[in-house]
Amino acid sequence: MDRIRIVGGNTLNGSIPISGAKNAALPLMIAGLLTDEKLVLENVPRLADVSLLQRILGNHGIDITVAGKRRGDDAYAGQTLEIDARVIVDTTAPYELVSKMRASFWVIGPLLARMGEAKVSLPGGCAIGTRPVDLHIAALEALGTEIEIDGGYVLARAPKGLKGGRIVFPKVTVGATHTALMAASLADGETTIENAACEPEIVDVADCINAMGGRIEGAGTPTIRIVGVPRLRGARHSVLPDRIETGTYAMAVAMTGGDVLLSGARADLLDSALDTLREAGAEITVSNEGLRVRRNGAGLAPVEVTTAPFPGFPTDLQAQLMALTTMASGTSRITETIFENRFMHVQELARLGAHIQLDGETATIEGVERLKGAPVMATDLRASVSLVIGALAAEGESMIHRVYHLDRGFERLEEKLSACGAEIERIAG
Ligand code: UD1
Repeated sequence: MDRIRIVGGNTLNGSIPISGAKNAALPLMIAGLLTDEKLVLENVPRLADVSLLQRILGNHGIDITVAGKRRGDDAYAGQTLEIDARVIVDTTAPYELVSKMRASFWVIGPLLARMGEAKVSLPGGCAIGTRPVDLHIAALEALGTEIEIDGGYVLARAPKGLKGGRIVFPKVTVGATHTALMAASLADGETTIENAACEPEIVDVADCINAMGGRIEGAGTPTIRIVGVPRLRGARHSVLPDRIETGTYAMAVAMTGGDVLLSGARADLLDSALDTLREAGAEITVSNEGLRVRRNGAGLAPVEVTTAPFPGFPTDLQAQLMALTTMASGTSRITETIFENRFMHVQELARLGAHIQLDGETATIEGVERLKGAPVMATDLRASVSLVIGALAAEGESMIHRVYHLDRGFERLEEKLSACGAEIERIAG
């Protein structure tokens, strides 16, 4: 298993290209199931989760080709995927595949909408809480689906096709909003989704479905209206930049000090996190090229943050923010409201010398003057990158084990950071 070795203490200076968003690329690839024509996706990040979803979609009979490099492409240009779901040969998503990546459960919406049936494995347990799929199921039932749960599988049937309906989510869920949006796009009649997730990735998927001939209004607000169409056609769509990758590198620069341009980043996708970073002492300027993050000399101020659905502070940046606060001059408080049990980085940050106390869903972090390098273990995607941030600022060497978690969501992390002066290398095997 690969490890990452970091010798901390260097400031970061230069430019980091921001990749396409993982959390948009995955549902966009799944949206390719909605049409028998070609969906071309540009700016798709090169990530383990994307490759895994390619395999999963292949199992349904979907051909996905990756376009070759074009003249003038820079080294970090995203991939272009051509998704061809002309023939869906299998409407079953087996446990062996769904258990490897929760988001693959989302094939249930388009499979059902196009084929009138789907058999999708329940995703099973997950390192960051129980993460049920009850709200996906309730949304599909509201569109006239018959659901049976048997042997760990959700059997969904709509033999006469899906019918538009009213979906009211009792809590905000990104995944079930994707499911509802995709299924309703091919349903007969009009659907309203209330208390829908407003995340930018939902807007990106809605824009893509509209380019395919869909009729979705209100994506990005809590009420989405969808008029179903009998069929969707092919389209070309470019994946929006990754706001979580952006926020992660912004925090890394705030942590180590330095001056970095996050090229291609969009400030409007992470207002709340940028406010927090400014409060902590980072200087952030927005230009046509992206976001520039600087911190020179002065120490970090403590912050109080509660995670919330968009436009609130994202749960996917909580661990990274916690790494940052470990060296603030004072006491910070971070409350996690989206996922229970999303504090696995706490023990590992403590190995670097952080002082963190957990009380239910709130972590209290007493800033320390210095962190010290240590061997640490990556436990999930966002937790692992918080260890990278901690290690970049710690004195001496850290070794991060189980970095396959990082490869799921961060494209060429060590290359991007070492180009800015970090001492970081991957050790294979
Ligand atoms: C997506 C993101 C993930 C992010 C999360 C919250 C992707 C691929 N993943 O995950 O990175 O951390 O949004 O922004 O885009 N819930 C239910 N029943 C359901 C579905 C969800 O109770 O049927 C609960 C979850 O347990 C959680 C909350 O709703 O407490 C939010 O989860 P959700 O927004 O659905 O997260 P994901 O879509 O899985």
